[in-house]
Amino acid sequence: MSTLSDSDAILAKDTKYVMRPWPHPPGEPVIVAKASGCTITDVAGKEYLDFTAGYFVNNAGHCHPRVVEAATKQLHQVLQVSGKHGTVAVVKLAERLVNLLPGSVNKAFFSTGGSEANEFAMKIARQAQKKTDIAYLDNAYHGLTLGALEACSSEKYRETAGVPLPNHTFALPNAYCYRCKFGPAATCKVECLDGVEAKLDARPTAAILAEPIQSVGGIAPPQKWWDRLDRIRKSRGILLILDEIQTGLGRTGKMFALEHYGLEPEIISAGKGLSGGVGSLGCTFASDALVAKFFGGTTPTSGGNAVSAAAGYALIDTIVDEKLCENAAAMGRYFTEAVAALEDPWVGDIRFTGLLGGVELVKDRSSKEVLGKAQISGIRDRLHEEGFLITISGTYSNVLRLQPPLTITSGQIDQLVTALRNTLIAVRKGV
Ligand SMILES: Cc1ncc(COP(=O)(O)O)c(C=O)c1O
Repeated sequence: MSTLSDSDAILAKDTKYVMRPWPHPPGEPVIVAKASGCTITDVAGKEYLDFTAGYFVNNAGHCHPRVVEAATKQLHQVLQVSGKHGTVAVVKLAERLVNLLPGSVNKAFFSTGGSEANEFAMKIARQAQKKTDIAYLDNAYHGLTLGALEACSSEKYRETAGVPLPNHTFALPNAYCYRCKFGPAATCKVECLDGVEAKLDARPTAAILAEPIQSVGGIAPPQKWWDRLDRIRKSRGILLILDEIQTGLGRTGKMFALEHYGLEPEIISAGKGLSGGVGSLGCTFASDALVAKFFGGTTPTSGGNAVSAAAGYALIDTIVDEKLCENAAAMGRYFTEAVAALEDPWVGDIRFTGLLGGVELVKDRSSKEVLGKAQISGIRDRLHEEGFLITISGTYSNVLRLQPPLTITSGQIDQLVTALRNTLIAVRKGV
């Protein structure tokens, strides 16, 4: 067991040697000594309930025994081979994934993470279409590499490039229904997509890159929004690249979120949970017809690691056998009702699709004015102090992102919701 001084020493070394991409809020970083299910324990022995699932990765919970066993077995067989060759683990995972996805894709290309998966997706689309431009949605995040950054909407991400980004991408409106400018949902005619045809036609548009449900803030478009956008792009021969990096592998209550809408994209990217949390895998899926028009030329040195692939296969077995999609759907509903029952004046919108969740905080519900930065930080800090890991996100940085492992129980959700109720009251009172 670590002593307090051990943990202080590790934290001091973290500060001295480990580079981080942003300043961290109070209580972070948590240096994790062990993790199991939805619970992580830091080096000082403090326990946290993890409502972030790593970075939305550990869908079957931390260190699920089946995932660990599969990875351990693979460790003794083969680890990594050249991209010119293959392993049984990768072939098996490719077949399994292709069979879970619509017939519009039938080949899998493995890389090392989500950003790379999107880079390959955009390369395939541009080469196959012989067109340069990619449309993305407002509020989108698609990765940290230069190409993927071009398809991120927020300046706070784009400017990390340190150079002006090329002008080969452009934004389309997303379906931010809570802040819709056009009127109530009952009369919605998807007016937010008016003018999209002209935007797509004004440029040499190869593809639209979009998440089926926007992870940042849990923005789930209505069916008619997707139907209209899909019709528009198909009638122009524009490809759809669906980013399932965060929404895939059971997160939204379906194995892939495209099932909610019946979408059949020509290209799909996956990542995050795909490796079961063992190393990192990205994957780009496309059809034979598109692959035939594509010259990759390069391959990531460590793409398609056999241990990650074996763990990913075990993760899918676990999701199926333990009915984790069903649990995600049920717990998302439970979460929604529990947060709604707080009837807190700061809770503006509650958006869960399965366990892709967001709670948007406002000063008051009728004006929807965004809650102040100090209050939002106060809420995060207090929940952190009480042993709950959450993140804040959204267009206005006012959304509590709630994305625990899909194994979460109603009892664990109750713990968070009780703490949230007390926290909202305390922060409002300024105590
Ligand atoms: C929707 C989406 N796309 C792409 C990425 C990039 O994936 P990675 O961080 O594995 O490169 C992320 C990561 O947060 C994501 O959420």
